[in-house]
Amino acid sequence: MSNNINTIAVCGLSWGDEGKGKFVDYLAQKADIVVRYQGGSNAGHTVVSDGVKYKFKLIPSGAPLEKEVIIANGCVIDPKVLLEEIKNLRDMGKMVNLKLSSTAHVIFPFHRILDGLEEQSKGKYSAGTTKRGIGPTYSDKVARWGIRVFDLINPDLLKIKLEKLYNIKKKLINVYDPNWDMDVNTIYEEYRSYGEKLKPYVIDTAFYLNKAIDSGKKIVFEGAQGNLLGIDHGMYPFGTSSNANVLGICAGAGIPPKKLNKIVGIIKAYTSRVGEGLFPTEIHDEIAEKIREQGHEYGTVTGRPRRVGWIDLFNIKYGIMINGVDQLIITLLDALEGINPLKICTGYELDGEILKSWPIQSEIIERCIPIYREFEGWEPRSRAEWSRIAKKGFDELPDTMKTYVKAIETELNTEIAIVSIGPDREDTVILNENVF
Ligand code: IMP
Repeated sequence: MSNNINTIAVCGLSWGDEGKGKFVDYLAQKADIVVRYQGGSNAGHTVVSDGVKYKFKLIPSGAPLEKEVIIANGCVIDPKVLLEEIKNLRDMGKMVNLKLSSTAHVIFPFHRILDGLEEQSKGKYSAGTTKRGIGPTYSDKVARWGIRVFDLINPDLLKIKLEKLYNIKKKLINVYDPNWDMDVNTIYEEYRSYGEKLKPYVIDTAFYLNKAIDSGKKIVFEGAQGNLLGIDHGMYPFGTSSNANVLGICAGAGIPPKKLNKIVGIIKAYTSRVGEGLFPTEIHDEIAEKIREQGHEYGTVTGRPRRVGWIDLFNIKYGIMINGVDQLIITLLDALEGINPLKICTGYELDGEILKSWPIQSEIIERCIPIYREFEGWEPRSRAEWSRIAKKGFDELPDTMKTYVKAIETELNTEIAIVSIGPDREDTVILNENVF
């Protein structure tokens, strides 16, 4: 049945790792194209498709279904990582139908080095980055001396621009580390060869995508990271360097706002965060340990144990507003099994007052006390049992889980359309068939 929804955006409403990959794969079943529009190989998207586990850093999560996948201009590209992902997919027998924007920016080794050095010197303002060179590459883009994919695939341009950029970056790195040096010709040769290999995929993706939308193709925009990590509306400076929310789509893919039909926000039944920065609902005791184990909360890119805490509806409400979320998907409810009681944060108190809106400034958030409601938890079940329950539908979920989900939906005043109780596509309870 057609519902006139041709373009849909999937966005994490917390600090990333909400389980977007699974739902991009799910929605991609009905899509023609899946698009990444921000971030780079700092992202780690896990997709279990037909029983096979895939981990992507750059390639959109529609790839296991052999959908057309696009890496748009708002992304920053580590060409080595991208070529490895293309190879891995081919080795797994998958056809790779990729298009890469000529105007996306390229990450070089000196960006990764600077990422580490700048982090160190930021002290208590360090975000605990993935050290993949994301911040320094976006900085160069904004400073207007960045190197783009178009330059990468044109050896003469690459040579001129790389030499210039290298000299500037060397001076900067030498401020931190006076002895640092690298052979620019070695970098050039390595990147020239990456450019040669990537050239067949490179096009103007904005033009291509607009034509595709105009011709009625169905498109999923896959966000990386999450709203609270976004550069403009997240918890600055403890986030990433792109607009890790749907606001990034227009600039990051060249899509006018009126061409976006629907926004789906992904929330997790609890919260996790990897890296530094405030986390008002963080839990530090053995409950955190249990959730971390049950939810496999270890970074996909860095392997770091993720910090975990109770779900924070106050900052999620802010994310719903910023992103204009139409419907929600809640994930990882199964990972809370055996924990009793469960807590939901519904607001913050500051100096004896209950706040009306989420305070975006870290310095204020630091002084806030979360307000909680408590809920009865549910008993542990085997993986097979959760899968069986998912097949039977929402009514078969434990009563306490239904109460928990409905309380979240009411508090957020936004429909929860899908509930996820396991990693596989089958472990999904659809409450509204008409999402896409
Ligand atoms: P960067 O994006 O590597 O610069 O890291 C900035 C912050 O965002 C750090 O706190 C990272 O841990 C966090 N971050 C970056 N990418 C992800 C992600 O995909 N999931 C969760 N956190 C992320």
